[in-house]
Amino acid sequence: MSIELRAVSADDWRAWRSVWLAALTDSPGAFGSRLRDWADAPDGRWRDRLSIAGAIDLLAVDADGNAPVGMATGTPPQEREGRAELISMWVDPAVRGRGVATALITAIASWAESTGAASLALSVMPDNVAARRTYETNGFTVSEELRDAAPGGQRELVMVRKLSPDSSASALLRASAYT
Ligand SMILES: CC(C)(COP(=O)(O)OP(=O)(O)OC[C@H]1O[C@@H](n2cnc3c(N)ncnc32)[C@H](O)[C@@H]1OP(=O)(O)O)[C@@H](O)C(=O)NCCC(=O)NCCS
Repeated sequence: MSIELRAVSADDWRAWRSVWLAALTDSPGAFGSRLRDWADAPDGRWRDRLSIAGAIDLLAVDADGNAPVGMATGTPPQEREGRAELISMWVDPAVRGRGVATALITAIASWAESTGAASLALSVMPDNVAARRTYETNGFTVSEELRDAAPGGQRELVMVRKLSPDSSASALLRASAYT
């Protein structure tokens, strides 16, 4: 399997919608949103979601079949050498364990470095073992910070990866994962 990462914009909201609704259906407890929050969202709300100032929204696409199989977003730090955030991480169950999440994280981390961010943070449910393992493998460690309670009542952990903001890394908008 060969995976291509594509940066999408507000005009790609239909493709993003299909993947995000699949993510919320497949993993209802993994995110701060629920399927009911987005199922009937009007076009403008999807466009707004893909118009976060300075953010990058990536779809992982199976280059053979051209089908989206994963997603992730990076939001920029508020100030130089601040903390960027990784959100909306999901991989289709059919292609898990093949490095798709790692490819998305690598691209978002590289993009975050190019913005001057000193670190990349994310929120994860404490009992989401697969995600925590994925993030640990990719250089994140659990911080002492806890997020406000999510819809299910649980408080998410915050995991952080240090970056090298002075590196000349450029955003990797294409990456490959092979089985
Ligand atoms: C978490 C998730 C994104 C991982 O995607 P993935 O493409 O399967 O991850 P990768 O193949 O890149 O795996 C990265 C590492 O994590 C490990 N890992 C992934 N899933 C694992 C699992 N279920 N149990 C143990 N380790 C796991 C892999 O073994 C790999 O480590 P390795 O290189 O040492 O073998 C995917 O399981 C998912 O979409 N889950 C549902 C949504 C979700 O929880 N999103 C995160 C919200 S914070």
